[in-house]
Amino acid sequence: MTKGRDMLDRLWQRGRDFLGTETAIMGGAMSWVSERHLVAAISNAGGFGVLACGAMTPALLEAEIAGTQALTRKPFGVNLITMHPQLDELIDVCIAAKVGHVVLAGGLPPKGAIDKVKAAGAKVVCFAPALALAKKFVKSGVDALVIEGMEAGGHIGPVSTAVLAQEILPEIRSVPVFVAGGIGRGEAIAMYLELGASGVQLGTRFVCATESIAHANFKKAFIRGAARDAIPSVQLDPRFPVIPVRALQNHGTRRFMEVQAEVVARFNRGEIEKDAAMLEIEHFWAGALRRAVIDGDVENGSLMAGQSVGMVTREQPTAEIIAELIEQAATALAARYTAEPVPLRA
Ligand SMILES: Cc1cc2nc3c(=O)[nH]c(=O)nc-3n(C[C@H](O)[C@H](O)[C@H](O)COP(=O)(O)O)c2cc1C
Repeated sequence: MTKGRDMLDRLWQRGRDFLGTETAIMGGAMSWVSERHLVAAISNAGGFGVLACGAMTPALLEAEIAGTQALTRKPFGVNLITMHPQLDELIDVCIAAKVGHVVLAGGLPPKGAIDKVKAAGAKVVCFAPALALAKKFVKSGVDALVIEGMEAGGHIGPVSTAVLAQEILPEIRSVPVFVAGGIGRGEAIAMYLELGASGVQLGTRFVCATESIAHANFKKAFIRGAARDAIPSVQLDPRFPVIPVRALQNHGTRRFMEVQAEVVARFNRGEIEKDAAMLEIEHFWAGALRRAVIDGDVENGSLMAGQSVGMVTREQPTAEIIAELIEQAATALAARYTAEPVPLRA
């Protein structure tokens, strides 16, 4: 185990140096779930917590950062959604609070956002959904990348983590790259590090942490859920595009199909304009994640979850989750390089 841990520490040294942490495990920002308690718990356990700003106002974000700083002295990051109408003010809040790492999610950051964060001395992390974009981000000066495959919970792209990792890791060497999507155990962490990742990011696996404020019903749905239950949202008609979101199936996901069918039928009969129809479809999920995470309405709310949900089997303290991941990764690495042949099972 010590030998395995040494190897693990060597493999993710670059990620640890970049984050300023003991382990290169990032807790992916999850709207409503990644607030001060979970973020501080992940950082206190040697990982790197990331606050989810989501739709928060600058004042709310300022309070959440201060709340997190009161619970941990360890480094943590803030995830900002690039299409937030007050992105510039949110960046100001992060800079004033001396946040060390800003993660820009949800599409290409507007011109100037990356430079502004960097000029203040903070590090910028961006999500790269393809090699071409990864190269573009590196050119624009980002300090690190997260590559997230379609196994992940929440908004997803079309490509799997395994393929993204093979395409991007060998090509991008000038900045650290963190792999996300579908990671539930330490063996998978070891594998991505060996492929050249500097670290990993996990979301789903932290939802049922004891410190997570997610409603007991939300946690129960995760503990019950199997990989095959976490399915991307389906678009019924290409004229009305739906961004795929991976979530556990419930009454809401079934109703979403019916609502799309009803709206498309009204549009085809000329009873509704295209823009209004699109808005009705988009509006369906408004506030739905909060309804499930905070209010516990797991039938009508959104149960965003990754395929690794099947590996969430109980509520556990964050420190225990991280310790388990480390032990699995270290054991796997030690076994790979042992002189002893692995006995064949009968
Ligand atoms: C409930 C939930 C909410 C999420 N919300 C966000 C978000 O607000 N911003 C973001 O960049 N990613 C969000 N994600 C993605 C996570 O940050 C993380 O990258 C992802 O969960 C990693 O894949 P995994 O779920 O397979 O571990 C969310 C994921 C989940 C499960």
